[in-house]
Amino acid sequence: MRRYLYIKTFGCQMNVHDSEKMRALMENVGYGETADVKTADLVILNTCSIREKAAQKVYSQLGRLRALKRRKPGLIVGVGGCLAQQWGEKFVEKMPFVDFVVGTHNIHRLPGIVESVENTGIPVVETAFHQTVESLNLVAMPCNGRISAYITIMQGCDNFCSYCVVPHLRGKEESRAFEDVLEEVKILSGRGIKEVMLLGQNVNSYGNTTQGGCDFADLLYAIGRIPAIERIRFTTSHPKDIQDKLVACFSEVDSLCEHIHLPVQSGSNRILQMMNRCYTIDEYCTIVDKLRKACPDISITSDIIVGYPGETDKDFHETITMMEKIRFDSVFSFKYSDREGTAAYGLKGKVPESVKGKRLRTLQSLQDEHTLEKNTSMTGRTEEVIVEGISKNSGDDVYGRTRTNKIVNFRGDQGLIGKTVSVKITEAYLHSLRGILLSHREVTEC
Ligand code: 5AD
Ligand code: SF4
Repeated sequence: MRRYLYIKTFGCQMNVHDSEKMRALMENVGYGETADVKTADLVILNTCSIREKAAQKVYSQLGRLRALKRRKPGLIVGVGGCLAQQWGEKFVEKMPFVDFVVGTHNIHRLPGIVESVENTGIPVVETAFHQTVESLNLVAMPCNGRISAYITIMQGCDNFCSYCVVPHLRGKEESRAFEDVLEEVKILSGRGIKEVMLLGQNVNSYGNTTQGGCDFADLLYAIGRIPAIERIRFTTSHPKDIQDKLVACFSEVDSLCEHIHLPVQSGSNRILQMMNRCYTIDEYCTIVDKLRKACPDISITSDIIVGYPGETDKDFHETITMMEKIRFDSVFSFKYSDREGTAAYGLKGKVPESVKGKRLRTLQSLQDEHTLEKNTSMTGRTEEVIVEGISKNSGDDVYGRTRTNKIVNFRGDQGLIGKTVSVKITEAYLHSLRGILLSHREVTEC
């Protein structure tokens, strides 16, 4: 009898992709997917614990699962991802309705873990770190009709930014072999994928742990030579590892999209040093200048934390000054959240929640002005858009993304999905653009 898996993903794109791998692994052993948790035989929460808020969302979901399991005792409940890695055994001790915990290095073992729970009913906890992360090489085949795919090129992180729990939960940095990544891109392009998103905690240091001396820029050049791949994106980058060779890719690799996500975290050199970020604001601005020189239309997005322990009004003001100078296309901004095990956890001078909240609101309203200004500057231009689906707001519209990663809505029908089209931008909003379809090209190569 076919069984059903319901999987809920929290957090970043790495987790979204890990969930795709879990789905593929379970599909191989007869588990189809269901979008309705009530019809599931197996529920997996793929969790995130980067900030307190992310972890809290997982706890409330677990509460709902406890109630569901009371009504359906045969249900198997598993927890994966960063919170699973962090809590390990404690999960099954404190929440006995959890049947298994699968850590970030053990995804490849999922089918065996589920089988063991099915056969014995005894909880399983697999959170050991391994020298080589086997799931790095798992290929999660996107379903037919998809045009975009994630590809993990490295995992783990050796940077130990003082606020960040990731290196403690994802382990040491490990890059995938160059040939393996290229092979996966080729397989995906043969299945109709036009756009690849290269994933890693710090993709610019790709190659540091592989033999053969190929670095991230070499990888971009190589993928750039695969004809069916129209767009290459990557995330996320660390400013300290942006080399001139990578900057040059933005003018030399045609399929590399004009967008970079480059977390700055703070505009204060004092705070950056405390965060162990290994660059100054002047160095960050120099990188931005180089990127804009190599690629004048590049969209630059960032992450900023407010209220790091010891952050003064002056430090925060320096963040605002830096934002005024750089004018990001958009920013993900966060209140500092204390994470056990990190270097910042024990620091004195914690900033009160009310001050963090006020700083966050100030920062976000300034960023809204900049985002709208950037989006407005695109009106009148003709943009290449790959159509992703029917608009959420109107069944008469479709939506897609520009190469700079901005959402565009325009009049169009189902038949355009997956096509690469030209759209004239007519209106700009904070979170999207509106346009008129000019033409579309059929892509015949396979
Ligand atoms: N508190 C707040 N924000 C954090 N981030 C990472 N750790 C923390 C923390 N403890 C943010 C950083 C990072 C993004 C993914 O999450 O800005 O770039
Ligand atoms: Fe965390 Fe810093 Fe590594 Fe990013 S680079 S995952 S912020 S430790």
